[in-house]
Amino acid sequence: MKYKKYFRKTSLKQDGVGDYFLNIVKEKSPKTFLEVGVFHGVTARNICELLYKIHKNDFKYIGLDLFEINDENKSEVIPNTFFSNPLKNIYFKFFKNLNPYSKEAVEDLLKKYKNNITLIKGNSNLLLKKIDMSKIDFVFLDGGHAYETVKNDLECCLEVINSNGTILCDDYDLGAQAPQVKKAIDEFIQKYKLKCEILWNTRFAKIEK
Ligand SMILES: C[S@@+](CC[C@H](N)C(=O)[O-])C[C@H]1O[C@@H](n2cnc3c(N)ncnc32)[C@H](O)[C@@H]1O
Repeated sequence: MKYKKYFRKTSLKQDGVGDYFLNIVKEKSPKTFLEVGVFHGVTARNICELLYKIHKNDFKYIGLDLFEINDENKSEVIPNTFFSNPLKNIYFKFFKNLNPYSKEAVEDLLKKYKNNITLIKGNSNLLLKKIDMSKIDFVFLDGGHAYETVKNDLECCLEVINSNGTILCDDYDLGAQAPQVKKAIDEFIQKYKLKCEILWNTRFAKIEK
């Protein structure tokens, strides 16, 4: 399946990486998918399209994001939500009347799948522990990049691994730009003696039992 951009921003913009990502998910064909870090919802929509093809309506997508920058979360790195293409700014401002980085805009993008999705607005450090992870088959971890956040997110998702699920982490090795992501992932793998495959050069870390 081809990864589509839906006139929005996504971290899977590099040529071929979105298709590669969808193939990893397809191999596992999860019924319940959790994305930490939804941003504009582009990956969310691609995942819904893929899971619909595989399972028809028998799938769930859960997405969690801050969906806003405020005083409490300003230490997290949030991608620039402004488009360099002015047409896209005009489209969202005057036609959609929506901020693409908002829960409402992602709900709009996913409206075809409204019965299959749950979107949660808030900080993964506080909210992930409230999700029943034994029901999740696949996690795409692409939220906060602070060491404590990655560590917390992984610890909260341990139950997914214990139930034979998969965690796919984005931005595994960003080198000097964000060495803490790799550090948190490496420590987690070592601590629980997990299997980890590094994919697409060093971009993804796929963690399983
Ligand atoms: C790289 S973007 C996600 C891109 C998206 N997965 C995609 O494929 O297009 C990272 C997202 O993580 C969110 N984020 C950062 N820290 C977070 C936290 N502590 N809890 C929840 N979301 C967080 C940001 O708001 C941002 O939208």
